Amino acid sequence: MYFKPQRGKIPEKKSYLTWLIPNLWKSRNFKKIPIANYGKLFVMGLKPTQLISLVKLSESLRNRRFAIASYALYLLAGRKLCLVAVLSTSGQIIGFNQYYFEERRTDGIHEAFIGVHPDFRRRGIARLMRSKAIEHFRRNGCDHISTDVDSSNQASRDMASELGFKLIGGPQGNQEPSLQRLKRFLN
Ligand SMILES: CC(C)(COP(=O)(O)OP(=O)(O)OC[C@H]1O[C@@H](n2cnc3c(N)ncnc32)[C@H](O)[C@@H]1OP(=O)(O)O)[C@@H](O)C(=O)NCCC(=O)NCCS
Repeated sequence: MYFKPQRGKIPEKKSYLTWLIPNLWKSRNFKKIPIANYGKLFVMGLKPTQLISLVKLSESLRNRRFAIASYALYLLAGRKLCLVAVLSTSGQIIGFNQYYFEERRTDGIHEAFIGVHPDFRRRGIARLMRSKAIEHFRRNGCDHISTDVDSSNQASRDMASELGFKLIGGPQGNQEPSLQRLKRFLN
């Protein structure tokens, strides 16, 4: 059973409470994502004060507005469900990796998006965030991470398969046909 009919999409407006509340409930006992220091870079859970910077980066990387439901979820549970890569010198957010619960009855978590600022790509930042996410969600009892990757996005697919994600089929539900679903089992 899903929180809403369309898988792989964060809802807009009216239906968002029926998505938000179960997400807050399922993550209520999660630990915060711990801060890890890699010299000039921190990887950590999103703090409420970083949300506006994350929204700006997200909207510059994706061709869409940040959903209202996402504002609410990551404001309240960003420290548990969203990793950010932050420059230690300036505090600038240069990458993020956001997650939510898509399904009510499983202990799987879904990756909504991973993105790195164009000036900081090919330095291993996305790989680092995803590796940290795998550790964090395993430690908090999730049994898998799912993600949808556009079949034309070779970079993202290569990185996912390197980190143990496996292709589990073609498009799911009402998703765009070019999306492929990958899963990383955590047990
Ligand atoms: C995909 C994306 C997140 C990768 O971020 P990144 O920090 O540059 O990735 P990493 O440096 O950690 O790369 C890890 C691996 O991914 C693959 N990869 C990343 N970028 C690649 C590219 N442009 N071409 C080919 N392979 C690529 C490589 O296998 C790479 O390992 P390598 O550098 O040892 O060869 C980044 O390019 C991005 O933000 N793209 C736009 C948003 C997007 O498409 N997100 C994914 C959809 S959910």
